[in-house]
Amino acid sequence: MADPQSTATGPAAPGTVPFRPGLEGVPATQSAICDIDGLRGCLSYRGYPLEDLAAHSSFLETTYLLIWGELPTPDQLRHFEHEVQMHRRVSFRVRDMMKCFPSGGHPMDALQSSAASLGLFYSRRAIDDPQYIYGAVVRLLAKIPTMVAAFQLIRKGQDPIQPRDDLAYSANFLYMLTEREPDPLAAHILDVCLILHAEHSLNASTFSARVTASTLTDPYAVVASAVGTLAGPLHGGANEDVLSMLEAIGTPDRAEAFLDEAIAQKRKVMGFGHREYKVKDPRAVILQGLAERLFDEFGADEMYDVARRLEEVAAVRLGPKGIYPNVDFYSGLVYRKLGIPRDLFTPLFAIARVAGWLAHWREQLGANRIYRPTQIYTGRSGRHWRPLHDRSAAAAT
Ligand code: ACO
Repeated sequence: MADPQSTATGPAAPGTVPFRPGLEGVPATQSAICDIDGLRGCLSYRGYPLEDLAAHSSFLETTYLLIWGELPTPDQLRHFEHEVQMHRRVSFRVRDMMKCFPSGGHPMDALQSSAASLGLFYSRRAIDDPQYIYGAVVRLLAKIPTMVAAFQLIRKGQDPIQPRDDLAYSANFLYMLTEREPDPLAAHILDVCLILHAEHSLNASTFSARVTASTLTDPYAVVASAVGTLAGPLHGGANEDVLSMLEAIGTPDRAEAFLDEAIAQKRKVMGFGHREYKVKDPRAVILQGLAERLFDEFGADEMYDVARRLEEVAAVRLGPKGIYPNVDFYSGLVYRKLGIPRDLFTPLFAIARVAGWLAHWREQLGANRIYRPTQIYTGRSGRHWRPLHDRSAAAAT
């Protein structure tokens, strides 16, 4: 429950608002995009339960819903899909720029740089023009997957391949990545994964997006700042670490000892815990089902047995503290089965979350006030400057 003082609209007198590390429980915006019930494990986008969208919608339809607030009509969806498909190609200058990136660099850094570079190529800024907003939304949704796939081929020493207009959004991404037309089930499951990752209220990267948006800068800077925030291991980067952790555990019988040691050493178990959820993340529930479908179709993954055993023992040790699997726990296993390289897991998350970031960008512009929180100063005061020759480590204290 938020402190009433922290929601006051006028400026609070210094020292009257309690400090909440990580802004836990502090409302920083009003939003009509996504609702989380962390005690019951329920998540909805614009009032529609996530489970319904995952079962019946497509990523682009869900994106339209998130950004414009309503499910599209057949004509609106056709137009939106067509526009996104028409803008998938990226300028040869962007590709050439990406060829200069170090091949050993992390794809999230490549994505952040290339997303920011779009601001150079599309420098007109008209954020009160609905056509500009529609165009920027389309361009970002269309080009981000192309840039992720391009970096993957470039770092292997190959030229990026062009998108295929006859393939839908997720199928085309897998095609650009692997240079093979994907299995329809694999493309469908990837599309569902994108729906699951599309939006999640005021998480760290979305907060970043909103703070950047509140300065009225361009949407490419908004997305680039959010990509940088998503990259960290406490946020989107956790799914990479989950697989490494499962591999380090090795076999199901070693899961319990691993967990005991992690708890004793106060190490975080990757893929567990969430600021909002005190039960299993509903996205993890759906992802686990998708993983099982993939294993049935394309063969088992022994790390899944390790994951299930870890979840089982963690329910006893961490469950009482409200720590359960989050979205990242099973997503890595799904992506691995889809043939996606491990360091592309977080860029894939970014491809999906662009939908949420853009929805929040648009919402922020609708009722903007620049973010400028306050701080509690803990430094020293009243110090006197000394000339360089008069300073020593001891004197500086
Ligand atoms: N493993 C073990 N203990 C944990 C875990 C975990 N994964 N997560 C939280 N805890 C414990 C902490 O040690 C702490 O215990 P204490 O009170 O005894 O000191 C308590 O739970 C609260 O933890 P915080 O880190 O303060 O919780 P916070 O809400 O700040 O952090 C976070 C949430 C970052 C997700 C955290 O649970 C974590 O680091 N998890 C592992 C990384 C991860 O999976 N990140 C992906 C999150 S989902 C996403 O961003 C897409």
